[in-house]
Amino acid sequence: MGLFTGKKGIVLGVANDRSIAWSIAEHLHREGAEIGFTHLPDTGDRPKNQNKVGKLVDPIGSKFLIPMDVCNDEHIAAVIEKAVATFGKIDFIVHSIAFAPPADLTGPTYACSRNGFKSAMEISAYSLLAVAGAAKKQDALSQDCSILTLSYFGGEEVIPGYNLMGICKAALECCVRYLASELGPYGTRVNAISAGPLRTVSSSGVGDFDKMQMVNATISPLRRNLDVDEVGSMGMVMLSKLSSGMTGEVVHVDCGFNIMGAPPADFLSKISAAT
Ligand SMILES: NC(=O)c1ccc[n+]([C@@H]2O[C@H](COP(=O)([O-])OP(=O)(O)OC[C@H]3O[C@@H](n4cnc5c(N)ncnc54)[C@H](O)[C@@H]3O)[C@@H](O)[C@H]2O)c1
Repeated sequence: MGLFTGKKGIVLGVANDRSIAWSIAEHLHREGAEIGFTHLPDTGDRPKNQNKVGKLVDPIGSKFLIPMDVCNDEHIAAVIEKAVATFGKIDFIVHSIAFAPPADLTGPTYACSRNGFKSAMEISAYSLLAVAGAAKKQDALSQDCSILTLSYFGGEEVIPGYNLMGICKAALECCVRYLASELGPYGTRVNAISAGPLRTVSSSGVGDFDKMQMVNATISPLRRNLDVDEVGSMGMVMLSKLSSGMTGEVVHVDCGFNIMGAPPADFLSKISAAT
């Protein structure tokens, strides 16, 4: 019997096999979870997104795969309705979604447009409130439901290049705390993983991403970059009863990068040898 035997929930944010959401889903599936998925709505004649995500989730026995744009309240309500019709109650929700218009993400924050800011905040932070709110409204949350979202250290401190998304992550982490406080009395836990830099579709839009990975590997206590599987396994733990006493937390899974106040001595000696 797995940790998730008899547990049912939804995973939002699988784009391909590199997605953090996919790694978490694989771990949940291995532990016996029943999972429904969403994909970005397709725009052309061909169901490109549906096919791409379907190829991944069909083989693990996905309970449903339906389109959802988090900017659309009807889409969100339909996903929760589908989950209720399929599962009854929802035991877990993975929210692994972020987006900012490239022109607003790659420049300095002071140059980002009003609409770009609104759109990035709506998709990357507000959507967590919207999904949790829709589930609460439809009385879909089980008595010990666990909600997990994904953040990054650029929401706590300045990471050059992360810019607008850092502001979104600060808001997202605050949403986690307010949601945890408001949903806690109903038994629902809300937490975030602050993951180190991983190469995915989302991160390819972040300026200086290669430098972020290089800095992470040279400065973090473990002196390496993260494997997505390490986020997947922690995600599974944070959705499981193993973490039943924890809510409102942002847990760093970043090879320890966040604890460093200054670069380590070996990094500094490499720099001075090079100059
Ligand atoms: N990759 C990293 O380095 C890293 C590090 C820390 C945190 N994160 C966070 O992890 C989460 C997942 O990102 P990822 O790196 O796995 O990339 P990804 O591109 O695989 O996942 C992002 C997902 O967001 C979805 N999405 C975007 N706009 C949407 C919308 N309007 N409606 C519905 N879904 C939408 C995309 O379809 C995609 O599935 C994001 O919140 C990201 O900020 C990523």
